[in-house]
Amino acid sequence: MKTLSIQGRESRSEIHVGESLDRLADYIPADRRVVIITDSVVRDLYGKRFLHADVIAIGTGEQAKTLVTLDHIFEQLIEMEADRSVFIVGVGGGIVCDIAGFAASVYLRGVDFGYVSTTLLAQVDASVGGKTGVNFGGYKNMVGVFSQPRFVICDIALLATLPGEEVSCGFAEIVKHAIIADVGMFVFLEQNSSKALALEGSVIESLVYDSVTIKAGVVERDEKEKGERRILNFGHTFGHAIEKTAGLRHGEAVSLGMVIAAALSVERGLLRREDEARIVALLEKLRLPVRIAVDKDAVLDAMLKDKKRQGGSIKFVLTNGLGRATVQDVTFSEIEEIVRGLD
Ligand SMILES: NC(=O)c1ccc[n+]([C@@H]2O[C@H](COP(=O)([O-])OP(=O)(O)OC[C@H]3O[C@@H](n4cnc5c(N)ncnc54)[C@H](O)[C@@H]3O)[C@@H](O)[C@H]2O)c1
Ligand SMILES: [Zn+2]
Repeated sequence: MKTLSIQGRESRSEIHVGESLDRLADYIPADRRVVIITDSVVRDLYGKRFLHADVIAIGTGEQAKTLVTLDHIFEQLIEMEADRSVFIVGVGGGIVCDIAGFAASVYLRGVDFGYVSTTLLAQVDASVGGKTGVNFGGYKNMVGVFSQPRFVICDIALLATLPGEEVSCGFAEIVKHAIIADVGMFVFLEQNSSKALALEGSVIESLVYDSVTIKAGVVERDEKEKGERRILNFGHTFGHAIEKTAGLRHGEAVSLGMVIAAALSVERGLLRREDEARIVALLEKLRLPVRIAVDKDAVLDAMLKDKKRQGGSIKFVLTNGLGRATVQDVTFSEIEEIVRGLD
């Protein structure tokens, strides 16, 4: 097991990579009452291994990530007579973590919380960085707060039950971290892609740890996304537009978004063609899509509505060589040219 910590502005968060769900109790002061928030799938798979505690199980999918679910959580917390001494633990994927963190951050004006992240995406991305919240009015993550969990446990063994396509979605964010910040990790991925896909413990542990290190570093320098944190959106500007219009999973859309961002980086003379080819090859090895037929008008329309839009251009994360990222203004006409040119 390896531990690293993030110093947020208001509190500190410890992330334990390779720790087990079975040792959760070690991370909570003995005199605290614990309430676990999980989803129905994770409860059915792992509920028997939860420490002795009250459990609130929510539904699954983005449709469960709403204020209605939050309402339901507060009702149950009140029914349980949970007071300020309660310690809330979200045990699940990114959806559970985002909701549990938000619920804990506003219940009684904020109580302590931690996560046991059970999906690869939650381990390498969602549970790190202190963003919590829910969807609202059809918009993703519209309502929420920045708030750091006391601890995050990344139990690699729990990933064994994760459906393959969910594993691949986690890999998309791992590849993103390597491209924007760590060429050594990129090479490691190239050399170990089959072991990674087979969820070999030591390989996954190393990838999760490196991902968390990168994300934690960026977040520590820019907790509230005023500047540098933007580089974590590599592949996400196109990715979000594709996710919305093509109905793909987030990680799949991000994979396509990274392919496009790499092409744009080459076009601007920032990235070598052979490195662009390495990015595409790696994504393919990790069973992520690298080309699809998209509805070009719909994608452009979604891009124009992007919240990172400023005037006649969009702030775009590009890579200026494997392991490095840069944020540049890209005009709509350049974007249109790229989208129209997609085959
Ligand atoms: N807060 C952040 O910084 C941040 C960053 C990235 C993503 N997110 C959010 O994370 C969410 C996506 O997270 P996700 O991909 O983990 O999805 P998820 O939480 O929906 O989990 C995916 C599915 O896997 C199931 N599952 C969870 N653990 C399992 C296990 N060990 N074995 C078998 N099945 C398991 C879940 O029940 C669910 O059906 C999105 O809502 C996104 O907005 C947040
Ligand atoms: Zn993402």
